[in-house]
Amino acid sequence: MSRKIICKTERLVLRLPTLDDVEESFAIYSDPETVKYIDSDNLPFTTVEEAKESIKRGLAHYEKYGVCHFAVELRENSAMIGHCGFNIWDDGVNLELVAHFNRAYWGKGFATEACQAVIEFVRSKFPKRSIYAVTDSKNTMSQSLVRRIGFVHTDELDPPEKFYVLDN
Ligand SMILES: CC(C)(COP(=O)(O)OP(=O)(O)OC[C@H]1O[C@@H](n2cnc3c(N)ncnc32)[C@H](O)[C@@H]1OP(=O)(O)O)[C@@H](O)C(=O)NCCC(=O)NCCS
Repeated sequence: MSRKIICKTERLVLRLPTLDDVEESFAIYSDPETVKYIDSDNLPFTTVEEAKESIKRGLAHYEKYGVCHFAVELRENSAMIGHCGFNIWDDGVNLELVAHFNRAYWGKGFATEACQAVIEFVRSKFPKRSIYAVTDSKNTMSQSLVRRIGFVHTDELDPPEKFYVLDN
């Protein structure tokens, strides 16, 4: 399948997901520890078919909005290690940063590197849009990640402890 590249960093390639990612996606979203703070009734996945459907939904989201949860690949060996990208809120405009990585690749700075790259990508594509992040109050890794890359709490949204906005 075609691998449309979105951007590259020192260690990573961010690209559109493809159906060839299905096993790696399943590995991420079937892990209860990885998905425990992700706000979705469909997780953890129990079948590979669910991973396949979610990739198809992601590609449809990209077609409609120009963003999705991009696949994150290691440059050194092309392993697909996570997803990083954006949800679009109901207003059809505002962006919510998302990062979901295979647990084997946590703590190495890959999520930070990927998030910074996708933010640069959307800033050039949609310069006027606000970028938010939503973190569960117990998801300390996610909170550290968003703070590290410049997000600050916002009281525009309720409850304020969960919502961050990227400071321009
Ligand atoms: C949220 C999530 C992506 C954060 O992952 P992470 O591994 O903490 O983030 P990074 O890959 O950027 O790694 C950062 C850590 O690696 C360390 N690190 C090691 N080598 C590094 C390098 N070369 N460059 C930068 N940081 C490096 C950093 O010091 C940092 O550690 P610290 O938090 O103890 O200071 C991950 O926990 C995850 O996938 N969780 C499940 C899904 C989820 O809940 N997502 C959030 C809601 S969208």
